[in-house]
Amino acid sequence: MAEPIKASPERGVPRPNPMIEKLSPYQQGAAAVSGHDNPIKLSSNESPFGPSPLALKAYHDAAGQLCRYPDGTQSGLRRAIGEVFDLDPGRIVCGNGSEELQLLLVRAFLRPGDEVIASEYSFIMGRIHAVAQGAEVVVAPEPEYSASAEAILSRVTPKTRMIMLASPNNPVGDYMRAEELAHLVANVPSETVIVYDGAYADYVQAADYDPGFGLAAGAPNLAVTRTFSKLYGLAGLRIGWLYCHEALVDAVQRIRTPFNANVAALAAAEAALRDREFAAGVRAHNARWLKQIGDGLERVGLHVFPSAANFYLIRFPETGPLTADKAADFLLSRGIIPRPVSAGGPAGCLRITVGTDKENEAVLRALTDFMAQ
Ligand SMILES: Cc1ncc(COP(=O)(O)O)c(C=O)c1O
Repeated sequence: MAEPIKASPERGVPRPNPMIEKLSPYQQGAAAVSGHDNPIKLSSNESPFGPSPLALKAYHDAAGQLCRYPDGTQSGLRRAIGEVFDLDPGRIVCGNGSEELQLLLVRAFLRPGDEVIASEYSFIMGRIHAVAQGAEVVVAPEPEYSASAEAILSRVTPKTRMIMLASPNNPVGDYMRAEELAHLVANVPSETVIVYDGAYADYVQAADYDPGFGLAAGAPNLAVTRTFSKLYGLAGLRIGWLYCHEALVDAVQRIRTPFNANVAALAAAEAALRDREFAAGVRAHNARWLKQIGDGLERVGLHVFPSAANFYLIRFPETGPLTADKAADFLLSRGIIPRPVSAGGPAGCLRITVGTDKENEAVLRALTDFMAQ
């Protein structure tokens, strides 16, 4: 019998793909604060209302099916999405969060040495997946705090194979105007995939916002990703969807694990989507509070960036007693958890999710007291 293999310093340990050594793990928003058993968690842009009661019922009902594999064709949820958004279900793929669908697009379309243009305030995981795939990430700045067609187009080279932008973006919450998106899509080479991340699209009420579906019907390289994690309150179930041309669907289907969307997620998402009244209520609450918070914080001397999403970014003075770090400590002392954006966001800012009435009032009170110090 062969000798068992012993670990020794000479033998070393398996080394990952060298691209992976360049990466740092994703930092999740904080969930706890010492001294507060029930903190107000406003660090991850989750819905303060949770899912619709119909989605919860579907989730509980799904318990009876847990010994079964999910429907790998995802037909029920794709049909529901098709009906609600007036889209062809054949162009829809569901996934374990929209993040997984972005990963699948990266794996399907990027080769080592390809270039990816990531707009400055796009979702960080897209870049992580691109680097792991051996691609070169080029960041397109967002000087006006929303994705800029000009900044992206001026960085396109013959090696550009993918463009990633979020609209509304994160951590600012602003969106690319419809005209600018159309200009971008018309001018990107047709073999370059544009990943148009609409994680916060469900909240947007502006008439000049384009969810991208009409453009994607005519542009085979436009891939729209959406999620049930935000407005639909299903972040914990991990369910999102992708709408794009059949050629992109086909590529993603070849590498998608067949059961990437689980039984409970498929059932709850379908029910959530069909509860239009609940969704409209969440959207209206969000819009009302974005305005109220913006006005309230401007009154105490803070700048709040325009946001169409379910969060807002506040700018604090860069020095002195009222910096973003000090504001974060002050909020934490009251059991409110904001999201610092020191890495990857505009300097001197905090991002805060829109919460319930009570939670938003607590934030306004706390920041008013903070500024009065
Ligand atoms: C811009 C953006 N895109 C995508 C995601 C990921 O969403 P999902 O939960 O569907 O993976 C997030 C999550 O916060 C996000 O902020």
